[in-house]
Amino acid sequence: MIKREDIEKIINAARIEEVVGNFVELRKRGVNYIGLCPFHNEKTPSFNVNPAKGIFKCFGCGEGGDSVAFLMKHEHYTYPEALRWLANKYGIQIEEQVLTQEEIAQQSERDRIYQINDFAQKYFQEILFTDAEGKSIGLSYLKERELEEETIKRWGIGYCKETGDDFSKKALEKGFTKEELVNAGVSLVNSNDGSLYDRFRGRVCFPIYNIGGRVLGFSARTLRTDKVKAKYVNSPESLIYSKGKVLFGLHLAKNEIVKQDECFLVEGNMDVVMMNQNAVTNVVATSGTALTEEQIRLIKRYTKNVTLLYDGDSAGIKATFKAVNLLLEQGLHVKTLLFPNNEDPDSFARKHTQDEFKNFIKNNAENFILYKTNLLLSDAQDDPIKRADLTRNIVETIALVPDLLERDAYLQQCSKLLNVKEEILGSELAKILKNKSLKTNFKQENTEQEVQENETVVEKPIDVKEIEKEYIVERAIISLLFNYGNRITTQEIFNSEGIKEKKDLYVANFVVCDIISDDIAFKHKLFNEIFTIYSDFIYNKESIPELSLFTSNQNQEISKLATDLVMNKYSISPKWEENEIKVPQPDDIETIDKYVRDTLLDFKLYKINGYIKEIEEQVFKTQGEEQLEWLKTLQRSINIRNDIAKQLGRVMIP
Ligand code: GTP
Ligand code: MN
Repeated sequence: MIKREDIEKIINAARIEEVVGNFVELRKRGVNYIGLCPFHNEKTPSFNVNPAKGIFKCFGCGEGGDSVAFLMKHEHYTYPEALRWLANKYGIQIEEQVLTQEEIAQQSERDRIYQINDFAQKYFQEILFTDAEGKSIGLSYLKERELEEETIKRWGIGYCKETGDDFSKKALEKGFTKEELVNAGVSLVNSNDGSLYDRFRGRVCFPIYNIGGRVLGFSARTLRTDKVKAKYVNSPESLIYSKGKVLFGLHLAKNEIVKQDECFLVEGNMDVVMMNQNAVTNVVATSGTALTEEQIRLIKRYTKNVTLLYDGDSAGIKATFKAVNLLLEQGLHVKTLLFPNNEDPDSFARKHTQDEFKNFIKNNAENFILYKTNLLLSDAQDDPIKRADLTRNIVETIALVPDLLERDAYLQQCSKLLNVKEEILGSELAKILKNKSLKTNFKQENTEQEVQENETVVEKPIDVKEIEKEYIVERAIISLLFNYGNRITTQEIFNSEGIKEKKDLYVANFVVCDIISDDIAFKHKLFNEIFTIYSDFIYNKESIPELSLFTSNQNQEISKLATDLVMNKYSISPKWEENEIKVPQPDDIETIDKYVRDTLLDFKLYKINGYIKEIEEQVFKTQGEEQLEWLKTLQRSINIRNDIAKQLGRVMIP
């Protein structure tokens, strides 16, 4: 448990643009920042960061919130984890309250897996450096592969003993349960007696980190060469680890990738570690999975330029072809490089100096057209049928490039290399593109239903048909408070002598007092909660609550709503207007007074119509004196309603 005061300190210290900037490349646009949304795949930035309000919002996928919400979404942190991360970043000391037994039990499973991985990583490394077996087997293996001690420490590499259950025992002693250890993937259950044994026994363990540098799992290499055992055993998929969504080494590579505006992509963990030791740090590995779209999206946050350094064997070439196609499709620029004589980046880095290595990459990386053409040409030689196939194959790859100009440039190059007229290649390309667009159109028609459903989810707050009108009028009041609460408005109010006079007051004061004096209640729980906070501040603390109280609220419903309302204030849907629902107008001194009045009147009009219906029911139900009283009330209410309608410039038909 983190104390309330500390939470406030942390939230106040957090600069949203810095927090988000840790993970997303942001560009300044006016007072805001924009970038490519990390939560969905996009080519043009619709991800906005608003430093003044401390929030982010993606207009493409609808994600939004404050720094804490960002970390929870992006890094899959729990609320306290996100706060701790921020506290650490901004050097804020937090006094952790002692946990009760119950609170410990409540800690999420995810939290526990992080803790287990963290414990395992430290334990494995301790074994590697201090235990006799660790040193003689694990450490000596790594030294043989020329890893320096500093490198081993930087990557957190460790060793899990052969014994079988050494680690599991220590973890149980530490207080982790059997179930947790199995869920985290570090231990397995012995089917004979139900005891635990170590998944990574007898292996060197490379931690797999997320972008923030937390251990998600392990990739553990056997030290044997007999091929009886799989070379690598990895952590299974868990609540925190999904192999297709991680790039090995990205946590240490990301800054350099941005600086160099280039990312080297290799196959093996060892390649990354060794290149890193050789001072090439903008490198990541796919770690045995075929490159996924999610991994490409990770890279795209930092650069558009990828150079593939895969093995030169036939499996490596095949993997390169596949990866090239995927990367091109995502709009990235791809270069490829093959290492000579069965070398891989690891062995090559070991045999050459840093400069030699860097120069080799610089001089030998070629764009994918050259690479693919040369490779296929050497295979096809003068066989005309093979050459035709190869041409088609390359044009198909070129067809994947989304940018028209780039596509054309590749076509020219290909024409020269293959000695085929550009027009012929061009018509081949056109054919492929036409086929492709026919296919996608067909797909679109078939999935239209789905797409529409998805869109309504994203635009949820705007579709009036989906949401009752009461929700909208109440929401408009809350939006008014969030967006304009601390602005001054000039309104007519009754003074102490009961005479109407013009006064300058805060919008929040005017709105809250007006609604309370008319004794109107909010029907929706969330709005009621927010309104109560406002009235508490205004009446009891004589102040207006800070927006951050809502955008950073621990209640995620409140923080989501606040972010949406604050960031969405100018997005006007025609549906609102069709339904005569007022939408906030630009921050314009002349319109704010009227806007405040109209929003309140809309709200009241809706409420009084509901009230009138209730009174009418009473009139039907009662008789005599009582009924007469209800009739009078009804007439009064109708008068009030007509008055409101008149002020709004509408005619009410009874
Ligand atoms: P070294 O042989 O020590 O140089 O390892 P490496 O990291 O260079 O491995 P390699 O190039 O053979 O394979 C590339 C990547 O594929 C590895 O880093 C692993 O992530 C993955 N990989 C290789 N072999 C296996 C395996 O047997 N099982 C699993 N799950 N992954 C593997
Ligand atoms: Mn290797």
